[in-house]
Amino acid sequence: MRIARRMFGWIAALVLLSLHTASFAQEVLPYQNPALSPEERAADLLARMSLEEKIGQMTLVEKNSLRPADVTTYFIGGVLSGGGGYPSNGNNVEAWAEMVNAYQSGALATPLAIPVIYGVDAVHGHGNLRGSVIFPHNIGLGATRNPELIEQIARITAQEMIATGIYWNYAPVLAVPQDIRWGRTYEGYGENTDLVTELSLAYLRGLQGESLAAPGSVLGTPKHYVGDGGAVWGTSPFGASNIDRGITDVDEETLRRIHLPPYLAAIDAGAMSIMASFTSWGGLHMHAQEYLLTDVLKGELGFSGFIVSDWQGIDLVHPDYYTAIVTGINAGIDMNMVPQDYRRFIDTMHQAVENGDISLERIDDAVERILRVKFAMGLFEHPFSDPSLVDTVGSEAHREVARQAVRESLVLLRNDNDALPITADDSVIFVAGDAANDIGIQSGGWTIEWQGRSGSITEGTSILEALTTTAESAGAQVFFNRHARYERAVDASGNPLRANVGIMVMGEMPYAEWEGDDADLALADSDLAALARLREVSDTVVVVLLSGRPLVITEALLQSDAFVAAWLPGTEGQGVVDVLFGTHPFTGRLPYTWLRSIDQLPFDFDALPTEGCDAPLFPYGYGLTYENGGDSTWIELALTCAGE
Ligand code: BGC
Ligand code: BGC
Repeated sequence: MRIARRMFGWIAALVLLSLHTASFAQEVLPYQNPALSPEERAADLLARMSLEEKIGQMTLVEKNSLRPADVTTYFIGGVLSGGGGYPSNGNNVEAWAEMVNAYQSGALATPLAIPVIYGVDAVHGHGNLRGSVIFPHNIGLGATRNPELIEQIARITAQEMIATGIYWNYAPVLAVPQDIRWGRTYEGYGENTDLVTELSLAYLRGLQGESLAAPGSVLGTPKHYVGDGGAVWGTSPFGASNIDRGITDVDEETLRRIHLPPYLAAIDAGAMSIMASFTSWGGLHMHAQEYLLTDVLKGELGFSGFIVSDWQGIDLVHPDYYTAIVTGINAGIDMNMVPQDYRRFIDTMHQAVENGDISLERIDDAVERILRVKFAMGLFEHPFSDPSLVDTVGSEAHREVARQAVRESLVLLRNDNDALPITADDSVIFVAGDAANDIGIQSGGWTIEWQGRSGSITEGTSILEALTTTAESAGAQVFFNRHARYERAVDASGNPLRANVGIMVMGEMPYAEWEGDDADLALADSDLAALARLREVSDTVVVVLLSGRPLVITEALLQSDAFVAAWLPGTEGQGVVDVLFGTHPFTGRLPYTWLRSIDQLPFDFDALPTEGCDAPLFPYGYGLTYENGGDSTWIELALTCAGE
């Protein structure tokens, strides 16, 4: 059945392709000739286009608001799946490919047969697709400090995307988050500009390969330009206890020093689409920044690709829709992520051109940029999904790389009393915590749903499953109770058992964007209570923290012998267990400074105390190993400052 469906899709694709080539069989127009450069082809095509067709190219619509036939009618240039934008008839590779190919067929049915570019947030694997491999979120990859691995992850993600016909990824995130209360902290590689630059570049290389047109390559989208990690707490349009989409209140020198360098590097490395940020700077919303978008990005930095807006981003620049559109397009946005009412956008654009508020030159510039990228990607030559890749989605080989990434992302914060590694002597293991047996929690936001969701939302190995397999094959017994109540753990004579080691897996529930803004970064009281119970019945206690950022952990740190920051590891929970059992080393290092108390935020990174209780709990770059576990000056300070 699966094979039959694949064959059908493939044959349909071939028929469509040949139909569409046949209609021009007599004469190959310059834009159809792959031997010409993207520039030549784009110029030729642009000259053949009506205003309607041009405005269509600038329109990016979310698939839930669009049918394939609408792509034909309105000459739509781009389609996206937002967070949770899986096909309505099933979340599997075949349904995805069918859906995306149908939009593509709609585009190829227009007179000029310009393919659509279909985009998705494959920010830690092809996350909306059930069964795809989910890698650690970028915060975990930041802890690995391993650019080669990150390049490989991006390559695999591209492969899983192409299996579904998608060649455009809204990644990597180039934010340099300065305040971890931000709900998007985990989307950034770390607080340090050089780290973000190095790792995001590796990811972009992995996505785009040697050539964008080569098989296996997809277009990356560095985002969100610029300064979206620099917003000030309380300046968010969502209110005083939010930060997302707020104001990056720094002078231009600081903006250029902290937030701009990753973009420079990305453009040098061939970035061809860049997404604008929801934040504001210098009193202007980023989508209205002619200076930063046009003068700096396209002028000074020489960016020749296209700028895509964020989700309804242009709408936010002015309460009057017409004014907003005119301002955003004139500021330099080339493609508008509408994402719903595309007819209103198209009508408004026509109106603005008629009124002379948006010039034809601006439109031609935007469209030419978009077309150049489509040609450079080889979309005219391979517009459809590659069915030969279907079986690689979520494959063992892909999961193996994710598992390695999980291992390398773990940061060991404390290891006293030989709590880790777990050894053959640890014959009774108690496990507790809501996060211990939950693929959804360990994957975080941007997984299947925009906000993510707890539960068995996709295929993978939970930390508990991995622990059980590994411990049982070592002859140990594992007892799990999320609340750390182990009445059922008794020996052969019915006496209550005590654990050699208790493992508490706790942390944050999934979130995305402003939903994750958090004023306290506190651990849940119920988790702390469970941890205290676990402590009573275990000889040593290991805490595994699953979170999108550092949290205020002092209390839990005091209750534990060993403490591991595991971030949001994704579907391959076995990677955590590989390191807990010592079959692999701890190598991860903190990508963010770890706070001691919430009143330390935001950090002034230029004047961070390094001693005393005003110092952070752990410095940037901190991470113990099995060899240097005795280097516990920071733990001693933590205990002293907590009054122990
Ligand atoms: C986010 C972007 C994302 C877009 C499409 C926006 O809300 O800010 O990062 O690419 O949605 O899902
Ligand atoms: C979409 C996301 C998008 C968000 C922004 C959600 O409905 O699914 O992709 O980022 O809205 O508001």
